[in-house]
Amino acid sequence: MSTTPCIAFQGPSNLDGYNRKRRPSQQTANIPRTFVDAMEVREQVFVEEQGVPQDNEFDSDDTRACHWVVYAAENPMEPGQIEAAGSTIKDDIKLKPIGTIRLVPFPHAPHPEPGSSYTFDADEIESSEPPHFIIDRPTTYHDGREPYIKLGRLAVAKEYRGAGIAKLLAHTAMAWAQQNSIFFNASSKVIDSNTGKFPVWKGLMCVHAQEQVSKAWEKWGFKLDEEMGSWEEEGIKHLGMFKRFDVGNVKPMFG
Ligand SMILES: CC(C)(COP(=O)(O)OP(=O)(O)OC[C@H]1O[C@@H](n2cnc3c(N)ncnc32)[C@H](O)[C@@H]1OP(=O)(O)O)[C@@H](O)C(=O)NCCC(=O)NCCS
Repeated sequence: MSTTPCIAFQGPSNLDGYNRKRRPSQQTANIPRTFVDAMEVREQVFVEEQGVPQDNEFDSDDTRACHWVVYAAENPMEPGQIEAAGSTIKDDIKLKPIGTIRLVPFPHAPHPEPGSSYTFDADEIESSEPPHFIIDRPTTYHDGREPYIKLGRLAVAKEYRGAGIAKLLAHTAMAWAQQNSIFFNASSKVIDSNTGKFPVWKGLMCVHAQEQVSKAWEKWGFKLDEEMGSWEEEGIKHLGMFKRFDVGNVKPMFG
């Protein structure tokens, strides 16, 4: 089976009608294809492999987030068959979603309390509005006030791990954020109650890292925020990490 990865982007989109009780492949046609594919990977990894309840995988941040999906272009034929088939092989190539990541703009709910344990209530998730700006508790890398963006839901299908797919996703999302830094200011519909103005992203990015993956995030430039401490989400230990980007001299890719 031959594979070549390619990557797709899905900006914030209307996901009204996404039914969390149905599998991604059973969603209605108005849900963007790239998002459905992201959910295919997330369900495979977080729900089936890690045991997160299916109802809790989709949340209110999905609508306002940017999503990336990596696909493997798979030809179901063996190399010998490909040669024999000649020019007809293009018709047999299928794009299979194998990895995903999302980037959530500000504002965010308060930092989790150290030592706490969260299980998400699907009904609460369904009805929840995006959070408002707050003054959060200060931590090692966050003063509690600065608007930050949050990378998360990083998942790679089991059989494709160890090939740099997560690294590709993380670096693609980080580069996009740096090159489109004003996107986040423009997409926020909420005035920062700390300043009374529309918020400005100054380059701070957060991740709530599963503990066993924190070394990978460190390789990608994130630092452990000691004062955020650790907490459990759906029974999985998480740590807070931050990375600062220089967004001063970067020209936006659009506009
Ligand atoms: C974590 C996960 C996304 C990594 O995907 P992957 O495609 O295998 O990762 P990559 O091949 O891109 O690895 C990138 C680097 O991270 C390192 N790495 C990957 N997973 C790691 C882990 N669990 N612990 C420590 N280092 C890890 C690799 O060694 C590699 O280092 P290198 O660049 O020096 O070679 C994947 O294992 C997964 O989906 N796990 C289950 C879901 C999960 O835990 N998500 C993370 C939530 S924070």
